[in-house]
Amino acid sequence: MACLGSSRLCARAEKIRQFHRNIASTALSTRSFRSSSEQAASSTGLLRRCQNFQNEHNCRLNVARVMSSMQTQQPGSLPDYRIDPYQLLEDDLKDVYEDIKRELIGNTTNEELRTIATYYFGGQGKALRPMVAILIARAINYHKDRNGLLASQRQVAMISEMIHNASLIHDDVIDQSDFRRGKPSVNALWSQKKVTMAGDFILAVATMMIARLQSDDVTLTLSQVITDLVQGEFMQLGSKETENERFTHYLTKTYRKTASLLANSAKAVAMLSGADECLSEVAFQYGRNIGLAFQLVDDLLDFVSSSDAMGKPTAADLKLGLATAPVLFACERYPELNPMIMRRFQEPGDVEKAFELVHKSQGLEQTRFLAKKHCVEAVRLAQTLAESPYQKSLFVVSDLVINRIK
Ligand code: FPP
Ligand code: MG
Repeated sequence: MACLGSSRLCARAEKIRQFHRNIASTALSTRSFRSSSEQAASSTGLLRRCQNFQNEHNCRLNVARVMSSMQTQQPGSLPDYRIDPYQLLEDDLKDVYEDIKRELIGNTTNEELRTIATYYFGGQGKALRPMVAILIARAINYHKDRNGLLASQRQVAMISEMIHNASLIHDDVIDQSDFRRGKPSVNALWSQKKVTMAGDFILAVATMMIARLQSDDVTLTLSQVITDLVQGEFMQLGSKETENERFTHYLTKTYRKTASLLANSAKAVAMLSGADECLSEVAFQYGRNIGLAFQLVDDLLDFVSSSDAMGKPTAADLKLGLATAPVLFACERYPELNPMIMRRFQEPGDVEKAFELVHKSQGLEQTRFLAKKHCVEAVRLAQTLAESPYQKSLFVVSDLVINRIK
């Protein structure tokens, strides 16, 4: 087909066609990785960096204790509780996307804005954020001898997914991505201006929903997420000189970009349940640890999974100039990565060389090890709640996060 638009649009159209041609052709390299990564390596550097981060964030975790506890309780080998959190929450989750779309559509009569704003709520997502928020809500309600789910807590689950998708729309514009969740990204289909405003619109509707909850504490908690997301994205544009500074920068960025939403949504539903500060902190820390683990796994999947499995291009981080955990760990073994990180992999051959060195190093195993550590801590926190199917599902979530392949 002749291409009449700009060269970038032509390239995109070709990529989309290529995507449809390739959809079934690439094997999952993740499988072999998953078995080899079971021999997760520990290193003094890893310990040092974890501890730096924990001191910085006043985290009460004792790394040595957690590392030894991992020998007996690895999330990847947790007992099979035969609970599927998505099934357990089927009734709570089944209309979440429809309800979000109804909120968005109800707030504008502009058809195109409706279409763009609802595009990422087509049900292709993992709905991880609503699932975790509702699970925590039900586990905490049960812990406080209350059954069921409050309407306000379900609203937080919806708001959480809306903030997430608004940020993804902006992120796709910034990253100039072509694909998300196996289909063309919003910015591949509509102009940047329209797409950016659609992201703002989702955020505005989410803000109205927060206001309706009429809780200053919940408003403050969920507003914190938005400031964190923006700051996290800003941090990603910069880099640090030394290895130590770089790792702390990366972990803080990861908290702000990914974990804050899960942590603060969990805290918000706990507060709505009437939880005291201590219990709200348990919810917050559970979400924080799951969020950090989720992003660490995302960062390693970028090196080992296929584009087809992920529904978006892989090795994308290096191409965007980003040094994530696998590269930062690999740097310990291959210091020649340092200048490449500093120039954001801009010189010809940098991306390929860095990719190769990461695979030759223990960087992927170390990343997975750190993700597991956060999953173990999430499980430990969930164990402090009263036993219920929801509490047990919180263990299963950590298993899903560490074992996910897309
Ligand atoms: C995905 O990152 C992006 C995020 C998790 C957050 C992006 C945040 C902003 C753009 C700030 C603006 C925020 C709001 C609420 C409008 P990624 O590129 O690492 O992941 P990807 O591969 O899924 O694109
Ligand atoms: Mg992106």
